[in-house]
Amino acid sequence: MEWKLEYSVGDEDLDRDHMSILNALDRVKKAQKNNLEDDFIGILLTQLVEYVDGHFAKEEEYMAKIGFPGLAEHHDRHVEMKAELIRQRGEFLKDGKANFDELTPFLNDWWEKHILEADMDYKLYAESNL
Ligand SMILES: [Fe+2]
Ligand SMILES: [Fe+2]
Repeated sequence: MEWKLEYSVGDEDLDRDHMSILNALDRVKKAQKNNLEDDFIGILLTQLVEYVDGHFAKEEEYMAKIGFPGLAEHHDRHVEMKAELIRQRGEFLKDGKANFDELTPFLNDWWEKHILEADMDYKLYAESNL
């Protein structure tokens, strides 16, 4: 999927992070289609766990800076997403097999429901209040 201007949350750094989620989603879909290597999924899950620590913290700092009123609720969603990611990584480490039936919908929801909906809320807030 190509990145479009309408995906921007109005902050270059956060946009760059979001591009890497879009990219991860594309790669996972391709891997699923081609029955590709489990190694790649293991590396990706580890990268995503590291990624969320940096990205979620940056994003929450940004929301605090602009005084976004939905910060606490948004933070809770981040905590849930991180827990789910760690759970999926734990499952992978246990049996060394990619579980696309869980990973693909998870990343898809992350992109469509979190980045394009929940994250957009702070963008709209910033646009109408700053
Ligand atoms: Fe985000
Ligand atoms: Fe977020």
